[in-house]
Amino acid sequence: MAAKTAIVVLAAGEGTRMVSAVPKVLHRVGGRPLIAHVLEAAKSAGADKIAVVIGPGRDDVAAEVKRIAPGARIFVQRERRGTAHALLAAHTMLTTGHDIIVMFGDTPLVRAETLRALRDGLNEAAVSVLGFRPANPAGYGRLVIANGRLTAIREERESSEAERAITLCNAGVMALSGKHALDIVRAIGNRNTKQEFYLSDAVAIAAEKGLAAAAREAPEEEVMGINDRKQLAEADAILQKRLRESAMASGATLVAPDTVYLAADTKFGRDVTVEPYVVFGPGVVIEDKATIRSFSHLEGAHVAVGATVGPFARLRPGTVIGEGARVGNFVEVKAAKFGKGAKANHLAYIGDGSVGEGANIGAGTIFCNYDGIEKHRTEIGKDAFIGSNSSLVAPVKIGEGAYVGTGSVIVKDVPDGALAVARTRQVVKKGWVKKLRAIKKLRAHKGKKG
Ligand code: UD1
Ligand code: CA
Repeated sequence: MAAKTAIVVLAAGEGTRMVSAVPKVLHRVGGRPLIAHVLEAAKSAGADKIAVVIGPGRDDVAAEVKRIAPGARIFVQRERRGTAHALLAAHTMLTTGHDIIVMFGDTPLVRAETLRALRDGLNEAAVSVLGFRPANPAGYGRLVIANGRLTAIREERESSEAERAITLCNAGVMALSGKHALDIVRAIGNRNTKQEFYLSDAVAIAAEKGLAAAAREAPEEEVMGINDRKQLAEADAILQKRLRESAMASGATLVAPDTVYLAADTKFGRDVTVEPYVVFGPGVVIEDKATIRSFSHLEGAHVAVGATVGPFARLRPGTVIGEGARVGNFVEVKAAKFGKGAKANHLAYIGDGSVGEGANIGAGTIFCNYDGIEKHRTEIGKDAFIGSNSSLVAPVKIGEGAYVGTGSVIVKDVPDGALAVARTRQVVKKGWVKKLRAIKKLRAHKGKKG
């Protein structure tokens, strides 16, 4: 952006229509809070300053803002008295001379390019407004255009029937020139029925001051605002479509794209294959040529080149699956690392530990990582072999190339190259079944006689 620009995000509304204890802007699409999407767009648009207006006592919102944009300034709107009132809570941002872009915390899909285009509107006007033509305009402010000039934004509650017929609506994103921003926002009086200060009145105020207003148009898919859970789901669906398209464009095969749920930060290398019905939570990286098979659930996991995960695998945060490694059906991995070529093909829990290169974990192996108070680690050496149905009671180390006999409960470290068997010996009693039957028959006979 040419001139210095500050982006102010309004996020003080609780969103009563969400019917939730969680503030609206912390609800998620693509695994990421709404406010985080807005801040990411603000950052990539190249904002020189970012500010967020939050409601009183909203430490949870403040923490999320700090996580995504540590340099952002946070202002508190004490009472919820409308969007212009919210912007005035951050009025020190309006005294810097920076051009201002106002974004709403409940409008998560706006792109950085659109913010830049909106700002360019300030080359010809003091106020630049983003408009769109929603399929259902109910609830949105309407852009009133007279003689080719934008003269006002009319909120639905204040609009006439003729104004309600206008199809071009206010997306809520607005740019104000640094020179006039403070004057305009201060002048927004209490000029409506709801006793609220509407930021949308900035256009009429500018017109009264003899200043021009410009409008840019964006697709509905980009500017839809979220006021309830239905719109939350709709926005997520739009985002999913975008994410799937960009995954495929970067060289991942999604066999049935509509069945794959992605997070906003999911990263794919080339020639990755994702089979139908896979869920990606936040923080997943899949490197080149890896395959994620059906019905797997991944979150906070890194899958290296050529590895295979699933079907029906669960990778939880802190998982690293090494090159060419395999994690098969009904295997859960948490905070654990698989070395190159290591395998756990079926039915295992691998939590808090490491599996060395080339090691093989048999079906039914459990890392017993939790003693009810603390978590402990299990380390398995390179090329070790863990027989099926073994319990490895952490903290414990299995040496390089060591063997653990099937069905063992391992409580002590196993040295390199050793065999550890920890189960009771098998007892075989020849002819025992025949004897048992004879005894039972005799008893039954006596019973009848008695
Ligand atoms: C607003 C616009 C409307 C536009 C629509 C687009 C106004 C008056 N209306 O209506 O023209 O078509 O968005 O989605 O601007 N907020 C605060 N403090 C407040 C009030 C709101 O911080 O006192 C924040 C909310 O958290 C939200 C944003 O401002 O992120 C918009 O508020 P909301 O109440 O959702 O406005 P809409 O009725 O959707
Ligand atoms: Ca809204």
